[in-house]
Amino acid sequence: KLPDNGKLIWKAPSNIALVKYWGKKPVQIPANPSISFTLDACATTTSVLFEKKDSNDSYSFDLLFEGKPKDDFKPKIQTFLERIEMYLPFLKEYHFTIETSNSFPHSSGIASSASGMAALSLCLMDIEKKLNPTMDESLFHAKASYLARLGSGSACRSIKGSLVQWGKHANIPKSSDLYGIEYPFEINPVFKSYCDTILLVHKGQKQVSSTVGHQLMHGHPYAENRFQQAFSNLDKLKLILVSGDLEEFVMLVESEALTLHAMMMTSMPYFILMKPDTLKIINKIWEYREATKTPICFTLDAGANVHVLYPVSDKEKVQKFIKDELAEHCENGQYIHDQVGSGAIKI
Ligand code: PMV
Repeated sequence: KLPDNGKLIWKAPSNIALVKYWGKKPVQIPANPSISFTLDACATTTSVLFEKKDSNDSYSFDLLFEGKPKDDFKPKIQTFLERIEMYLPFLKEYHFTIETSNSFPHSSGIASSASGMAALSLCLMDIEKKLNPTMDESLFHAKASYLARLGSGSACRSIKGSLVQWGKHANIPKSSDLYGIEYPFEINPVFKSYCDTILLVHKGQKQVSSTVGHQLMHGHPYAENRFQQAFSNLDKLKLILVSGDLEEFVMLVESEALTLHAMMMTSMPYFILMKPDTLKIINKIWEYREATKTPICFTLDAGANVHVLYPVSDKEKVQKFIKDELAEHCENGQYIHDQVGSGAIKI
């Protein structure tokens, strides 16, 4: 039996894709598999207070973001609850007070949908667990990831660490379109402590939402080739992750980022999400890599911010380079040092 009330708190990290997810089928099924590093410092903490209510004919919830009511997020949560109700039939029995806050600066241009939907899914799964206390941990995580996927595709990669694969791939055992799995192979230690510094180039509203972006892959002239490329890049990455060949890693990761943006530039309508400073940063990274032979590289999400990836052994010199050379291209000089993390935690 479910309790009359209670409160749960989960902290879920953001993630950054190495092989990108871009294009989907209903309902939230990726057109191609993807893989990401789970981050550590960039995270969302969500608490869910649940209280039994009298009638159970509709959803009832309040939403607070960083302590203040946030009504413009409500439709997204409403849609999410509708999508997951068939898996969590108790949703209409409670009034929920959902409080959420991010570790990264407010409207920094870092998407909080992945970490936010992951944290909320974990809180709701934890209520479900009270009905089924013996549920094993791997089922708990898989189902939380499944629910998170229905909130925001890439959110299903924000439950576990340190590398998460989402999307069925013949050469990756147990991979699924329905939830993310911890990468099932032993990887080279260099990748277990990889660093990611996020350069906040442009904090404004994105020109194109990811929902619209995914839709633009329908009827896109290069879509089929792109999806095939993602499958083969996962095969290539599988070898790189074992060998630790950072030259190959750099090429693959940067090519994936530019391909994501190339898809947006060649869709109809078309978008350029990079800003002049994005390109200046990319060029400086290339020059630095050439001059110092340090294996740093960049990747991008669907926006202008740049993620700088590098091994922990180069941390000191790369962070000096970022401070001295790249910070000037960031809005208000802002950037966040992060690294590969180990997944969501209950608080
Ligand atoms: O999770 P969504 O639907 O917001 O899609 C985000 C997709 C990218 O971040 C651009 C790439 C990825 O795989 O994370």
